[in-house]
Amino acid sequence: MMNHVLDPFRDSPLSMGLTAWFQHEKPDQSPYTLFEMCGSDDAVNASINNAMAADSRFLMQVVLKECGEIFHGIDSLVDVGGGLGGAAAAMATAFPSLKCSVLDLPHVVAKAPPFSNEQFVAGDMFESIPPTNVIFLKYVLHDWGDDKCIKILKNCKQAIPARDAGGNVIIIDIVVGSSPSDIKLLETQVLCDLDIMKVGGVERDEQEWKKM
Ligand SMILES: C[S@@+](CC[C@H](N)C(=O)[O-])C[C@H]1O[C@@H](n2cnc3c(N)ncnc32)[C@H](O)[C@@H]1O
Repeated sequence: MMNHVLDPFRDSPLSMGLTAWFQHEKPDQSPYTLFEMCGSDDAVNASINNAMAADSRFLMQVVLKECGEIFHGIDSLVDVGGGLGGAAAAMATAFPSLKCSVLDLPHVVAKAPPFSNEQFVAGDMFESIPPTNVIFLKYVLHDWGDDKCIKILKNCKQAIPARDAGGNVIIIDIVVGSSPSDIKLLETQVLCDLDIMKVGGVERDEQEWKKM
């Protein structure tokens, strides 16, 4: 097993940095931080940003059609980890009075389309989140373990007013076990699980989300 794990091919990008992590393990260090790698590799940065933008083009139409009422009456919203702003653009188009901003890492914000109407903020959600009424988190929390998620959610809480003053956090993420037992959906879910394992993320079932 060790021979296989430490085989030189494991130094290739396919190995996701496992060999280096195994040989020089430091406490609390993830073997591979995809979002750090995006900062130094334009191709990886473009690949994930474009994939997420494509997801938003499809998914946000469903969200706005099926759950559009949750956006009524919101003044301001920050899409935390909002990538190139695809989801924010869909929300701002559907609700023109909604002031939408996108917070993401500097190397992502730098690639945001110039024609976009949203305000982009380059920052780090683990440091601070700009003040707003509502925070939107789409496919962000499943990239992180519980401790990091709690840190993000604490920063969200600091950025919004109390619930009775309109403060809210909207989370769109995968809920394990919630899909019908259709083989194609199961295959897609397994593929997503592998992808999320690569970045050290966690897919959660309903109980785990409630606990969080
Ligand atoms: C899986 S993508 C989701 C993108 C977008 N929410 C969507 O659904 O299309 C996760 C996003 O979180 C961003 N991100 C990662 N670490 C971050 C940090 N520390 N602060 C702000 N954004 C971060 C990434 O750059 C990426 O855009």
